[in-house]
Amino acid sequence: MRSESTWHGKAPGRVNLIGEHVDYLGGIVLPAAVDRFTEVTGQASANWSIASDVEGGLAYVRAVGEELGVVPQDVHVNSQIPPNAGISSSAALLVAVAAGLRPDMDGREAALACQRAEQKATGVHVGVMDQFASALGRQGDALLLDCATLEYELVPFPDEVAIAVIDSGEHRSLAATPYNQRRREAEAGDPKRMRHVHSEIARVRAFVAALRERDFNRLGELLKESHASLRDDFEVSTPNVDALVERASSIDGCYGARIMGAGFGGSMLALLDRTKTQPFVAVLGRPVLICSTADGAFAPARAGRPPD
Ligand code: GLA
Repeated sequence: MRSESTWHGKAPGRVNLIGEHVDYLGGIVLPAAVDRFTEVTGQASANWSIASDVEGGLAYVRAVGEELGVVPQDVHVNSQIPPNAGISSSAALLVAVAAGLRPDMDGREAALACQRAEQKATGVHVGVMDQFASALGRQGDALLLDCATLEYELVPFPDEVAIAVIDSGEHRSLAATPYNQRRREAEAGDPKRMRHVHSEIARVRAFVAALRERDFNRLGELLKESHASLRDDFEVSTPNVDALVERASSIDGCYGARIMGAGFGGSMLALLDRTKTQPFVAVLGRPVLICSTADGAFAPARAGRPPD
């Protein structure tokens, strides 16, 4: 049933090109919003309720509503983002609800509210990267975000490079992983964890330079170095993911690949020569999402461009 007070929100998933496990330490990261969306409609109700295919969605929706200080809502979720796809279905859900309930909110404030909501809903002390990308990403660009200041810069992402997200088949809920433990170890200054953090931040800068120089092979090398660091120094990979990253990287047209997101299984990112996407997917023989960059839910309107 729709009424005058029905609201609607829509937000994209995200990839992280590089800058893994540094957001919650105030590092720099380079995510992008991608063209798979979660849409929500809702209206005020006596209790929080959700009709959705996203597991655990009610806890997220309620948590973000509480952060925004709204009364309970009935929420209906329609998502193109399969759970476990590795493009942050949870951030897309949270940001879609925030965009529906508070379309005029500042994008940074919305990202922070959604980060707090995710922490509350899951007990995992996630950083702000996923929510920020879903809120403020931009079609055609990656988003270079300084997680200490929340200042960001858009970095053009080349059309000739395809973004592939590969499902490892090892699915897990973040709450069941050592994510919080890794965060504590890094915050305590563990030398091995910090070696990853410092080298990864240097790779983010090098990646942005390579994007500006359109040096796609260099992008691939940096992904491979990032993977080795996440595997050996931060220890968030698995033998299965390591093998898949090796295999993906060896296929013609793949510049490089690495584990993406929190890790401990989950998904991988590969960057491909766009003209070789189809043979790559056929040879790899794993579920792959080919993504393009997209506008975030709170991206400022572009002059001369009609809204979607
Ligand atoms: C998850 C978290 C992010 C970030 C990544 C690792 O996706 O939600 O905040 O910490 O892991 O880079």
